[in-house]
Amino acid sequence: MELLRIEHLSKTYGTGENIVRALDDVSFSVAQGEFLAIIGPSGSGKSTLLHILGGVDRPTSGNVYMNGEDVYSRSDAELAIFRRREVGLIYQFYNLIPVLNVIENITLPVLMDGRKVNETRLRELLHTLRLEGREKHLPNQLSGGQQQRVSIGRALMNAPSVVLADEPTGNLDSKNSQEIVELLKFSNREYGQTLIVITHDESIALQADRVIAIEDGHIVRDEVIRR
Ligand SMILES: Nc1ncnc2c1ncn2[C@@H]1O[C@H](COP(=O)(O)OP(=O)(O)OP(=O)(O)O)[C@@H](O)[C@H]1O
Ligand SMILES: [Mg+2]
Repeated sequence: MELLRIEHLSKTYGTGENIVRALDDVSFSVAQGEFLAIIGPSGSGKSTLLHILGGVDRPTSGNVYMNGEDVYSRSDAELAIFRRREVGLIYQFYNLIPVLNVIENITLPVLMDGRKVNETRLRELLHTLRLEGREKHLPNQLSGGQQQRVSIGRALMNAPSVVLADEPTGNLDSKNSQEIVELLKFSNREYGQTLIVITHDESIALQADRVIAIEDGHIVRDEVIRR
């Protein structure tokens, strides 16, 4: 089943001589439960694409449909709710709130949404992410790998429709990197969580079901690796 459909997506920044065409007429679909890797050189438009898929940044033209619904027909307020409920974002530099502890960071999107924390899911995540015993620690009391595991917890807590990760291992050594990839693959396999990961690391891209390569705002390769 199709989860995301991207049609003729373009994004330009700036005006006149300073115009940058970050994405130029990009179209593709992502199936429910798919693990998609996005690769491409620096400045090719990968993060721009991920942000538009996640409801973070409006496209200049074109459409994004999730479960058949036009994401950008929403108002900004509706888009904020969409982001909290339907999208889990993971970044290279974790983006945790420094004054909040592990549990507070993980449950933040749920609380911001005015909903009750599912304690069973929280316990399960803390266990899977090997964060038990670290519940009350602040981000600066955690290793890089642990901080990234907290940000995965935050992304998964709401059981979003899609997890979007922008270079999630870019700041980690190879052992921590592979552990983060294993956790993302676990959630993809065990929960059928649709997963889109931007990576510069060929060995990570090759673990995906499918790889899309972007250059200069265009898709230059779209290859199924496994079904
Ligand atoms: N807010 C912005 N204002 C102006 N130009 C921008 C903005 N964000 C991105 N760009 C430009 O759009 C292009 C695509 O940027 P993007 O961040 O999507 O690249 P990327 O593929 O993620 O690169 P990297 O691998 O270095 O992270 C670049 O030329 C960049 O300079
Ligand atoms: Mg980027």
